[in-house]
Amino acid sequence: MAQAGKESLTRTAMCGRLTESDIGREVVLSGWVQRRRDLGGVIFLDLRDRSGIVQVVSSQEFGEAAFAVADLVRNEYVISVRGDVVARDPETVNPNLETGTIEVRAREVELLNRSKPTPFPIEDGIDVDESVRLRFRYLDLRRPEMQRTFLLRHRAMQQVRRFLDLHGFMEIETPMLTRRTPEGARDYLVPSRVHPGQFYALPQSPQLFKQLLMVSGFERYFQIVRCFRDEDLRADRQPEFTQIDIEMSFMPLTEFQELMERMMAELFQELLGVTVPLPFRRIPYDEAMLRYGSDKPDLRFGLEIRDVTEMVKTCGFRVFQSAVNSGGAVRGLNAKGCGGFSRKEIDDLGALAGQLGAKGLAWMVITEEGVKSPIAKFFTDEELGAIRRELGAEVGDLLLFVADRPEICAEVLGQLRLHLGRRLGLIDDASFAFAWITDFPLFSYDEEEKRWVAEHHPFTMPRWEDVDLMERDPARVRAQAYDMVLNGYEIGGGSLRIYRRDIQEAMFRTLGFSMDEAREKFGFLLEAFEYGAPPHGGMAFGFDRVIMLMAGKSSIRECIAFPKTASASCLLTGAPSQISDEQWRELHIRPDGVTAGQ
Ligand code: AMO
Ligand code: AMP
Repeated sequence: MAQAGKESLTRTAMCGRLTESDIGREVVLSGWVQRRRDLGGVIFLDLRDRSGIVQVVSSQEFGEAAFAVADLVRNEYVISVRGDVVARDPETVNPNLETGTIEVRAREVELLNRSKPTPFPIEDGIDVDESVRLRFRYLDLRRPEMQRTFLLRHRAMQQVRRFLDLHGFMEIETPMLTRRTPEGARDYLVPSRVHPGQFYALPQSPQLFKQLLMVSGFERYFQIVRCFRDEDLRADRQPEFTQIDIEMSFMPLTEFQELMERMMAELFQELLGVTVPLPFRRIPYDEAMLRYGSDKPDLRFGLEIRDVTEMVKTCGFRVFQSAVNSGGAVRGLNAKGCGGFSRKEIDDLGALAGQLGAKGLAWMVITEEGVKSPIAKFFTDEELGAIRRELGAEVGDLLLFVADRPEICAEVLGQLRLHLGRRLGLIDDASFAFAWITDFPLFSYDEEEKRWVAEHHPFTMPRWEDVDLMERDPARVRAQAYDMVLNGYEIGGGSLRIYRRDIQEAMFRTLGFSMDEAREKFGFLLEAFEYGAPPHGGMAFGFDRVIMLMAGKSSIRECIAFPKTASASCLLTGAPSQISDEQWRELHIRPDGVTAGQ
């Protein structure tokens, strides 16, 4: 039996790159056996390398020793083949294979390594549990679709670097072992061996460092950087993820946003051949919440939400009236052309609304005879007319209403909008709808803690015209903060930063901590700001999310080479894992969480 051995053949060509122009060439190929078919006397091997697949034909006639090796190889064995590129007979052309018009006749086959049978086939579109794919990630990544995604990711990364370099941004690394950063998620902590009982925090973002770099005079900084957040994981959230982190000084906001738009537009043009219209839409936060029920609206389709509070405030429907009287809102959505939904289908929408937090879902069907609805009787003709006009209702439409606190109306109708958009096939998967969401509130009120908290972080600049409101009426202060959204995802966010001490102090007063407390938390930044901080601002993109959308995937796990599960574990390495007693001692902590070593 042939031994797997030391390679004596040197690769001269790539499987997927061979074309008819190579016919007549002798080549050496190396790769994995995708598939082996034995037709008795002739063996076909689909040979795969990073570039693609080509068919190798082996028979005693082309090479006797080669045939003997071909006879014993199996799927995923690693081989090298020396052979001649020949044209296939017209009847054996494989239109499904890029190299389907040619094949390679094996003069020599060298077995480089064997493989156990793999737990799933190494091909696209496999139907296996994700946990198995993650457990054997190195095999999963061998599949062509994964290789394509990571090639895309690589190219995107190079393109972003080129773009930012061209525009004068310098890539500067910042520490991974650091102090708490103000992004608001839970930290990953690293115990210090040298300082008993003290911990480093892994950065949730390089936020404070990039601001320091502005004080240092670098003016334009970027970093493609890993960030760590211990938060509940979802399809678009990982405990460690990659940001394209950017900060700049002395650049007007509009100019900065325009540059960021161009970076995205060029990325999509270069890598996907998709032309993204510029400039991006700008939608104030309040408007996004009202019309789409979300601060990351999917703008690929309509089905917009309308506020009908004014029109129903004196109506006879008790539910609507009491919502309005208690400061709530009544909002509706026109499910265009869904007037034919059965009672069951409408009830199912109601159940969905219930799961999303609504107390109920009122509905009206517009028919030739007028409004058909259990609640129609509570409204005057004028009220019904006004509602119909506001929602652009026509015969055959289904109108859905939620009466509740404005946040609940937004959440429920926003989700129903997405549900209906998908269900009615209104979403074009091949389109990309970018926008900026602007004018976020600077503060939000924490009902539990009964205090104002920073909506972003405490260094976010208020709009100049709102500075005076900071302490008088925090709810009305808008931030110079912006998110970039794409197809219903927040792909990036940032802000201009406070660089003036008086505004920073007003900020801390509203948040209810003294300058001393602020110094305790962020002293090094505040101190740096005393030495000539330039006006500055920036943003960070969630790079994994951008790649997920470019690659047409629905989870960022598909775009991260070695991701973690929803419970933050790595099925491949088994992290997190127990540590030895020795390590516990060295780190001065005990398994019960009590600091030891004193
Ligand atoms: P922010 O917290 O909005 O801003 O993060 C920026 C972008 O990072 C992505 N993102 C994530 N992606 C995957 N998994 C996660 N757990 C995760 N969390 C966030 C999102 C988000 O838009 N320092 C500020 C930026 C700035 O102000 O310049 C920051 O980190 O796409
Ligand atoms: P009820 O008066 O509770 O029987 O409700 C009559 C209709 O109004 C039902 O279709 C409910 O689903 C709907 N409804 C109840 N509460 C609300 C609400 N807060 N918003 C919208 N519709 C509601």
